[in-house]
Amino acid sequence: MATKERWASRVGLVLAMAGNAVGLGNFLRFPAQAAKNGGGAFLIPYIVALLLLGLPLMWVEWTMGRYGGQQGHHSGPGIFQSMGRGRFWKYAGTLSLWSCLVIASYYLYIETWCLAYAGYSAMGGFLDKDLAGVAHFFERLTGERSNQIVAVSPWGMGLFALCISLNVYILSRGLAKGIELVAKVGMPLLILFAAILAIRGLLIDPATDPNAKESPFVGLNYVWEPKFDSLTNPSVWLAAAGQIFFTLSIGMGSIHCYASYLREKDDVTLTGATTAWTNEFCEVVLGGTILIPIAVAYLGMTEVQQLTQGGSGFGLGFFVFPTLFNNWGAFAPVAGFLWFGLLFFAAITSSLAMAQPIMAFLQQEYGVSRERSAVQFGLLLLPLSLPVAMLHSNTFNDEMDYWAGTVMLVVFALLETILFAWVFGMDKGWQEMMHGAELAVPQIFRFIIKFVTPVLLLVILSAYIFKPKQDWEPYLTGIFSGTGSAAWEPAGDGLIGKLLHRDIQATLDDPNLPVERRQFQERLMLVRNVDRLALVGVFVFFAVLVHRAWVRRRAEGRA
Ligand code: ALA
Repeated sequence: MATKERWASRVGLVLAMAGNAVGLGNFLRFPAQAAKNGGGAFLIPYIVALLLLGLPLMWVEWTMGRYGGQQGHHSGPGIFQSMGRGRFWKYAGTLSLWSCLVIASYYLYIETWCLAYAGYSAMGGFLDKDLAGVAHFFERLTGERSNQIVAVSPWGMGLFALCISLNVYILSRGLAKGIELVAKVGMPLLILFAAILAIRGLLIDPATDPNAKESPFVGLNYVWEPKFDSLTNPSVWLAAAGQIFFTLSIGMGSIHCYASYLREKDDVTLTGATTAWTNEFCEVVLGGTILIPIAVAYLGMTEVQQLTQGGSGFGLGFFVFPTLFNNWGAFAPVAGFLWFGLLFFAAITSSLAMAQPIMAFLQQEYGVSRERSAVQFGLLLLPLSLPVAMLHSNTFNDEMDYWAGTVMLVVFALLETILFAWVFGMDKGWQEMMHGAELAVPQIFRFIIKFVTPVLLLVILSAYIFKPKQDWEPYLTGIFSGTGSAAWEPAGDGLIGKLLHRDIQATLDDPNLPVERRQFQERLMLVRNVDRLALVGVFVFFAVLVHRAWVRRRAEGRA
């Protein structure tokens, strides 16, 4: 069914696309990744990854989306099929439906936390609460207790249902009146909230604030001061590339979908680049000025580095920050509301973008109305979202984030680059990209898109798969220095190690592991296997839907 939906204005499109990209990754993941990977040392690989992967893939996805949209396709399978011949491509495009649904199912749960935290902060709920007090709130919200796999909280589940319903309602209003309107309101508010917090944070003065240990500029300096010592560490480069993917929402199919609602002659180069720059402003300038500088000011650098060891920023953002705001007296509830409010706006504008490709697919291939497809998206979420909400976050949540939010983004990006540059053809692809272009992309990007980006993607994917136990730097140094390296063994957090549950095994190998912890880990292994089966099941489900849709297309002479 052809759609007449369009973006109402260019500014709305840019804000919706920026909303798609700007998310929790900008304010929680980026600062934590920067802190974990050497602060200023992270920025250089990050900028290189932006130029060699982020921007080129952004242009490729916008171009593919607009091209597919002209042929009447608004989701991965159709867009891919319109550019490549053979059955393979529509199934490759199906991966985007899979990633969007899987990521949305845990992303929306975290969005729910932001909503709950924003409301509770505004009510002054965190006033005078210490870490244990905030942890207690989290436990009431999620039902999570250490060493327990099942984690159910009735009011947390109720809020989750509310948050899913809110998304479904906005989606049912359509592109211009739903998604675009939310972005037009949410994005400026997000930037305003972030700017207020950043400025208040930079005003922390250890001379007048008895609880401040350092100047916030120590933290700011740490993020910004270029350091070259970790440039030789492949893990830092991989982390930077992973961050670029997640933050720009590349490799998910949501950008293609939004771009598919452009008109034939609408520009993709300047608008695509503007989206990327808006995201980078929110990430590096705003995101880099809130979490780390405020945390360093009150906790000191060493503690902040320990708290961001995992690279996610969730502990700092959800547990520690409410206690730090309490240093700001009467402003504390407002600060909490601004912080969690901005996270909520960041999250909802991204979760809407994950839903739209799935809705577009259902509308177009199965003739479902917009309203019904929004409800169907909500229902499709349930088989994955319910376990996410009812189990400890180390189980379904973490697994999905690894497979869908990390590995598959790179796989999908590799497939789309091959399709665009090698199957559709670079000359044709470039011509398509430059159609209506308001920014003359330098010719060097032809070379980058055709050769550099796919090679880098292959390297990143291989590094994910074969990550050695002792990590890349010591492993490679051992090989290249001639001193030899230990035999290759999979890392617990590499793809092979994950498949073999090496991380859990390593914990279980500890003879002093308390019985409770051992039982938790054993159950964790079981739950992970169920999770993986569920993930495979979701892909098969979408593949069957795509297959049936194309059987029908062929029967009607539309294939
Ligand atoms: N791009 C989104 C984020 O950064 C998914 O959270």
